Amino acid sequence: MVNSFDIRRVREDFPMLKKMMNGRHLIYLDTAATSQKPQSVIDAIHRFYSLEYGTVHRAIYELAAHSTEMYSTVRTKVQQFIGAREEEEIIFTRGTTESINLVAHSYGRTFLKKGDEIIISEMEHHSNIVPWQLLAKERGLKLKYIPMSLEGELRLDVFKELLSERTKLVSVAHIANATGTINPIKEIISLAHQVGAKVLIDGAQAASHLSLNVEALDVDFYAFSGHKIYGPTGIGVLYGKRELLKDMPPFIGGGDMIETVTMEESTFQDPPLRFEAGTPSIAEVIGLGAAIDYIESLGRENIEEWLNHLLSHATEKLLEVSGLKIIGTAKKKGPIISFVLDDLHPLDLGTLLGLKGIAIRTGHLCAQPALSRFGLKSIARISLGIYNTLSDIDNTVEAIQEGVLLLRPEVSY
Ligand SMILES: Cc1ncc(COP(=O)(O)O)c(C=O)c1O
Repeated sequence: MVNSFDIRRVREDFPMLKKMMNGRHLIYLDTAATSQKPQSVIDAIHRFYSLEYGTVHRAIYELAAHSTEMYSTVRTKVQQFIGAREEEEIIFTRGTTESINLVAHSYGRTFLKKGDEIIISEMEHHSNIVPWQLLAKERGLKLKYIPMSLEGELRLDVFKELLSERTKLVSVAHIANATGTINPIKEIISLAHQVGAKVLIDGAQAASHLSLNVEALDVDFYAFSGHKIYGPTGIGVLYGKRELLKDMPPFIGGGDMIETVTMEESTFQDPPLRFEAGTPSIAEVIGLGAAIDYIESLGRENIEEWLNHLLSHATEKLLEVSGLKIIGTAKKKGPIISFVLDDLHPLDLGTLLGLKGIAIRTGHLCAQPALSRFGLKSIARISLGIYNTLSDIDNTVEAIQEGVLLLRPEVSY
């Protein structure tokens, strides 16, 4: 039983949940792709554009000074949200994808040389695979993968064997988007550090509900996206240890990130501004700040408890569906359940549920190597957010059962 979470009040905060889809009340079960937004985030962005809009960093008039102050306050908020030591360690990016690319381009191209090795895992999202493949190809590096078991857990025994003094970087997901596995990142970080490798953790699926302390984790880089933590699109975060960021060259060049520019050359700002070229996504940063305030107002422990409650209920209910197999049965899981059904293709299931106002994700989930591990090309995924209810799950399971009955009338419930 979860006492500290007033789900009715939470649902009231999300205007999109009042929407009808195909004549039914929307049941939104695709939060791992992107989360719905509370009114406070929408209001913060609206207020900024209607009453407070001005640029940041560049001008001294009042509006710009106020925008700059609001923008900087969010950096401090993010610092506290993830337990970073200094706000200069927080870089605003466009999202997890850009954060990972920033590290690959700036750190990777500068510090990794031919023959060096990068280790990622078989369960990664494409955004934590492709940048390393590109870098490896360009620089003659070797890319190695930690395999996963059929439960969807990383094979740490194999990871230990892959590690050597040639390993320069390890990059893995905190929570895998296809299997929902929560990886033992503290252990992974510590093992990688023993051979002198740096570690990036892809926190896209974790930052919305797991309490985080990057300093205690001793992680070198941590990345996440605003739109998956109830904030706007177009904004993300890269945390990097100060001692690493200070030696990293710019990722993109332009305004705001320079100290001086002559016709011959430029010198650059210290981090984080060195990595934030051009007019930033000011309204999105402000929206991100409002999303963090919203999460803090509910409490991440309460959110996690609610999501775990939903996850157990959903797992139990889904397993009652004839011919349904859950893909990813790790002991520690985030609020994600992927599954396949005998005789019912995920895309057909997605279409059937869509007609009933239920939004789930189907397809390869941007994790083709993870799906291949299970011999699959396509999968169905339910992912839960703070606004979901037990009846969202019950109604969805009922709709799946109806779908099964439609194709296999011999089944009885
Ligand atoms: C584990 C993981 N990493 C990275 C990403 C990419 O995030 P974004 O598209 O916001 O950059 C996602 C998005 O689904 C994800 O689930």
